[in-house]
Amino acid sequence: MLHDLPIRYINPVYRPPSEAQSLILPVTDGCSWNRCTFCEMYTAAQKRFRARDEAEIVHSLQQLGASPLRDQVRRVFLADGDALVLPTRKLLVVLCAIREHLPAVHRVSSYCLPRNLNKKSVAELRELNEAGLRLAYVGAESGDDTVLARVDKGETFATTVAALEKLGAANISRSVMILNGLGGLEYSAAHARHSAALANATQPEYLATLVVSFPAGEQRFRAAYPEWQTPDIAALLREQEQFIAALELNRTVFRSDHASNWLSLRGNLPQDKGRLLAELRSAIAAPQNAPLRPAWARGL
Ligand SMILES: C[S@@+](CC[C@H](N)C(=O)[O-])C[C@H]1O[C@@H](n2cnc3c(N)ncnc32)[C@H](O)[C@@H]1O
Ligand code: SF4
Repeated sequence: MLHDLPIRYINPVYRPPSEAQSLILPVTDGCSWNRCTFCEMYTAAQKRFRARDEAEIVHSLQQLGASPLRDQVRRVFLADGDALVLPTRKLLVVLCAIREHLPAVHRVSSYCLPRNLNKKSVAELRELNEAGLRLAYVGAESGDDTVLARVDKGETFATTVAALEKLGAANISRSVMILNGLGGLEYSAAHARHSAALANATQPEYLATLVVSFPAGEQRFRAAYPEWQTPDIAALLREQEQFIAALELNRTVFRSDHASNWLSLRGNLPQDKGRLLAELRSAIAAPQNAPLRPAWARGL
């Protein structure tokens, strides 16, 4: 949906795979934190963080509302890296304008950092939910505080749990991302264990794993974490097995099908846990027979 729309896009624009059919509506450019050493998504000069003018966003929505897309758009993803950094009042203006000009929209979502919620109360989040915000994608990346500090995520197990609980209390669904391999070999077991503990403590509606990858090179990451030992495919799969084995989830959609993953896994937890572990174990035991993604098909 990026072409011929009355919306100003500054490339690159990222969205979760599950937002492929959504209208991408930038309400900020870049990421307000932009310090995670593994992430190059918003480091280009044109992606320097700034909030967009309310008038520009509302004008785009008015134009969409006067176009044939008015009754076709069902989902909206608020871009860029952490749209919930905006003040609640401004987010409410955007959500109300979506409701007014795109009446068929039933789901608005965005990326969100735990720190974005520090100054928002559950009551404010409920207001956002009632105005249409249904889903927040939270890049927890790890539940291990050492790993989080090594990659300068600026969050901890405790801050992430608190934010996910706040979202849950406001009825906003949570989609949590964990980065397979982020702790290298040294912290692999602790990363798997503590990441599972984070999911167990918060019971997110959606949980996804991606494999940490460096298409722009490892230089920035290694500068902060020089002893990081690159996990090979077998180590990544073993870590994934430990992570899934430790999950105790009551009702979570699990996805490990992002293009960065070597082995694509999908299931509902808890019922598919045994099958997912069996798929992983057979890939670990006989990788030559496993449906591993070829290296050329992997990406971010
Ligand atoms: C565009 S970012 C925005 C998310 C949001 N700012 C946050 O941190 O929660 C979406 C996710 O992409 C993933 N990501 C970023 N850099 C990555 C990398 N080098 N390899 C694999 N996944 C990466 C991380 O899981 C990150 O949370
Ligand atoms: S992972 Fe998220 S918070 Fe970290 S730099 Fe990337 S977009 Fe920003």
